[in-house]
Amino acid sequence: MAKIIAGVGTSHVPAIGAALDNGKTEETYWKRVFSGYEESKRWIAEIKPDVCIVVFNDHATAFSVDVVPTFALGCADEFIPADEGWGPRPVPVVKGHSALAAHIAQSVILDEFDLTVVNKMEVDHGLTVPLSLMFGQPEEWPCKIIPLAVNVVLFPPPTGHRCFALGESIRKAVESYPEDLKVVIFGTGGMSHQISGQRAGLINSKFDKAFLDNLTANPKKLTQMKHVEYMREAGAEGVEMVMWLVMRGALNTNVEEVYRFYTVPASNTAVGNIILENRPAPRAKKAAVVRGKAKPATRA
Ligand code: DHB
Ligand code: FE
Repeated sequence: MAKIIAGVGTSHVPAIGAALDNGKTEETYWKRVFSGYEESKRWIAEIKPDVCIVVFNDHATAFSVDVVPTFALGCADEFIPADEGWGPRPVPVVKGHSALAAHIAQSVILDEFDLTVVNKMEVDHGLTVPLSLMFGQPEEWPCKIIPLAVNVVLFPPPTGHRCFALGESIRKAVESYPEDLKVVIFGTGGMSHQISGQRAGLINSKFDKAFLDNLTANPKKLTQMKHVEYMREAGAEGVEMVMWLVMRGALNTNVEEVYRFYTVPASNTAVGNIILENRPAPRAKKAAVVRGKAKPATRA
């Protein structure tokens, strides 16, 4: 059986990709960012996932604004890095897992999530920067990648609640796939940032840190947060963070936060990275024996 064993949250700032591609990782400004990912790179190299499902957003690159699917699953065998104006990033072609992706599409659509199936898609910084941050600069990406594009660019994006529920459905889909595959799911984008308008440059570290705390311990609270609150507190583009809730919905209620990194800024954005590993539900308290009868334990 395939199994989702962990989730990764990470920002996707395009300038991080440019810094990496142009050999600037040792500059003081960028070293602060990249050094925070050293531990995450070690973690994923040790975990060696067979497949990563990467929940990301397209920035009017593959879909333009003519067609904007709310949720679009990449079912192709490969996805070419897009040219976003400076030529395609010099990163490997992203190899898909079309059999698992087709299975997920079937399972979640029958579970009443109306996914768009994408058989051809170029992928922009929203997907390639998280891969670079977690895997560095290999000749080939070390695992298969299933991209799941979420609309957070054109109003209205899906709610955090819907994103979380989609994550739950994806987990069911993965767990009904017969092959033994180790799967890690990424939620990407964010954290707080606003790139245009009067509040351009807005960063809200207090909001971001509370988001990370709740993502681990109280994600249901985050599912109630409205778009307007993301935008007011975390900037217009801060709404990208709903994508992290797809990742969280695909994990156990009980997770262990094995790593967290947060720094401000990279370009216009607060950079966050979190790793959550699935843990079994905490054991119910030992039943107290009352007059020879076992009293039901209170639920943890
Ligand atoms: C920046 C951040 C983004 O998420 C993005 O898509 C584009 C630019 C920035 O910080 O400059
Ligand atoms: Fe973005």
